[in-house]
Amino acid sequence: MSVFKGTKLTAALFGESHGEGVGIAVDGLPAGETVDFEELKAFAARRAPGRGDGVTKRKEADETEVLSGMLEGRTTGAPLALFIRNTDTRSADYAGLSRLPRPSHADYAAHIKYGGNNDIRGGGHFSARLTAPLCAAGGIALQILARRGVSVCARLLSVGSVSDFAPFESPGDFAHIKAGGFPVLSRGAEDAFRAEIESARTEADSVGGIVECVVFGLPAGLGGPLFGGIEGKLSHALYGIPAVKGVEFGGGFALAAMRGSDANDAFTVKEGEAVTATNRSGGIQGGITNGMPVVFRAAFKPTPSIGKKQRTVDLQSGEEHDLVIKGRHDPCVALRAVPVVEAVSALAALDLVL
Ligand SMILES: Cc1cc2nc3c(=O)[nH]c(=O)nc-3n(C[C@H](O)[C@H](O)[C@H](O)COP(=O)(O)O)c2cc1C
Repeated sequence: MSVFKGTKLTAALFGESHGEGVGIAVDGLPAGETVDFEELKAFAARRAPGRGDGVTKRKEADETEVLSGMLEGRTTGAPLALFIRNTDTRSADYAGLSRLPRPSHADYAAHIKYGGNNDIRGGGHFSARLTAPLCAAGGIALQILARRGVSVCARLLSVGSVSDFAPFESPGDFAHIKAGGFPVLSRGAEDAFRAEIESARTEADSVGGIVECVVFGLPAGLGGPLFGGIEGKLSHALYGIPAVKGVEFGGGFALAAMRGSDANDAFTVKEGEAVTATNRSGGIQGGITNGMPVVFRAAFKPTPSIGKKQRTVDLQSGEEHDLVIKGRHDPCVALRAVPVVEAVSALAALDLVL
């Protein structure tokens, strides 16, 4: 089973893209927490396809059913099981893919691992549809964190060769993204990002992107050294998202090209507290929070399913074959992944706080 394993929290995913539905069982949530289901729906809507802004045309109602773990509007402390029914599936689009694995999708690796028994329709259990229950569980974690003064905010930092490095100071800078707006910090960046995605789409191609995430409000002193470090805990959560191929914290890979005198975060005093003047450590030192915002980025590869002709191998005949993929696919998965990054980061952050 695909399981997020925290110290206190675990979240186990189940379901397939074109089966009955997808779901998640979350264990370790604090008892007595209320859930605002309207807010949860609005959060899920940020991930849902069918909004017509550069995402797949699949439309899903994405109503979250609570199967267990809540009574009279409050968590009971027992496992919280959430289920989201599939309502818009077009399995015919996938006929033939069991023989012709899509380059860089999970088809071939899963075919080998499960001896050809895996559900190939819509990517089966490897589909990004599984990010819907992740957003349901993560959305609840976000609400619980908010009551404890912690906000998790993400934005699209780059798509292909276009970037938006607009700085941020507080969760308020992300308010329009949280409200469902295009997930960039400088308004001017939206057109350039859309153009980059549209150019990939018109060429029957796809494009990668980077999502940046910030956790505000974590107190100093959470986490632990070496394997107990926050980087490892967050990476475990982030690499659970399909198509994530890189994760970096603070200055990340760019730190490797710097001198210590440029990279170090000098300490200074602000309102009687020790803070750092810069935050190239991404709020983490020695695997432990230092009280600064925790900042990290996830790199998403281009969507593997593209309309352009590709080469693959026919698993029945063993011969090389051309492949032209039909069906509804996101030209840039990073765009829809912004709330998914918030969701998994919220699970990891809640685990730390608990
Ligand atoms: C939000 C989101 C949407 C995605 N949509 C698609 C899609 O429409 N078509 C596709 O081929 N892959 C899509 N993916 C990526 C695949 O699920 C992923 O590449 C595949 O499962 C293989 O896993 P890997 O890339 O981690 O190796 C999406 C990923 C995310 C996070």
